[in-house]
Amino acid sequence: MRIGVLTGGGDCPGLNAVIRAVVRKGISTYGHEFVGFRDGWRGPLEGNTRELGIAQVRGILPRGGTILGSSRTNPFKIDGGVEKIKSNLAELGIDALVAIGGEDTLGVAAKLTDLGVNVVGVPKTIDNDLGATDYTFGFDTAVNIAMEAIDRLHTTAESHHRTLVVEVMGRHAGWIALHAGLAGGANVILLPERQFDVEQVAGYVEKRFQTQYSPIVVVAEGAQPLDGQMVTHNQELDAFGHVRLGGIGQWLAEQLEAKTGKEARTVVLGHIQRGGTPTAFDRVLATRFGLGAIDAVHEGDFGKMVALQSTDIVRVPLADATRELKTVPVERYTEAEVFFGS
Ligand code: F6P
Repeated sequence: MRIGVLTGGGDCPGLNAVIRAVVRKGISTYGHEFVGFRDGWRGPLEGNTRELGIAQVRGILPRGGTILGSSRTNPFKIDGGVEKIKSNLAELGIDALVAIGGEDTLGVAAKLTDLGVNVVGVPKTIDNDLGATDYTFGFDTAVNIAMEAIDRLHTTAESHHRTLVVEVMGRHAGWIALHAGLAGGANVILLPERQFDVEQVAGYVEKRFQTQYSPIVVVAEGAQPLDGQMVTHNQELDAFGHVRLGGIGQWLAEQLEAKTGKEARTVVLGHIQRGGTPTAFDRVLATRFGLGAIDAVHEGDFGKMVALQSTDIVRVPLADATRELKTVPVERYTEAEVFFGS
């Protein structure tokens, strides 16, 4: 078979590990051929390819980013986009696609499957918010980066008797904030799943200062105050209708400083959480996903996504993965609340 591979959406540590596993097993075990599509769905849309063989995947296991490039291109928002993809795939002799991405990229994959394109999906996102899989690769790396930042912030916050607000990624799901906050011993964690009361947060901050320690507040970029709304960078929407978030940390620090009389500063971790080398957990998960994906392609089991359920790699319908976002359940937040303000 001649198989196309693409990576779409926000990049994520471990993408290259998936590509490597797909190509290595695909060639050495099954004797398939590969074509790399550049920049997500833009690649098949524009017929933009690069060579993808064993030589091209040598040495990429620990590298962050994606050797194929990425974009948030949505072919369903482009006139004649789907027809263009189909004709390009036919012209290039592509029998099947491995699409590595999050809800948007895999949403396109699910729709293309219904239109007769042979696709197998691999779940990727640092947000860990895809349904049907216990974890996505990239999440563990992002959490470790954020945890390390929080560890460092504790000591400087204490030296200066300041509140430090750490803004992490997480548009609709607060998994990164929850896990990094728990692992880093944050004193308050604020998630998109639950609107927060700024007076209550100020109360936690004051309580923490009374213990002679300084508060660390971890806030997901999509968190909102009661009766408030998400803080956005601007109003522009991307091809999947997402607005660019950012600024809740700064807003919150100003509020906390005014309410507590103690200096409050903000650190926005931003793309640092997505860059650089993946953790061992993510390298192994990404590799296992890649091996599972090429097996599915080889068996002609299309319209599926590989997923981690417990410790097993399984296959689920692509539609299941994208039907509903996996958000943080109330009981997980309740566990974290035990530590708030103390
Ligand atoms: O979906 C992953 C993610 O990192 C989100 O957490 C974040 O909201 C978004 O991507 C940011 O995307 P971009 O880098 O395109 O602004």
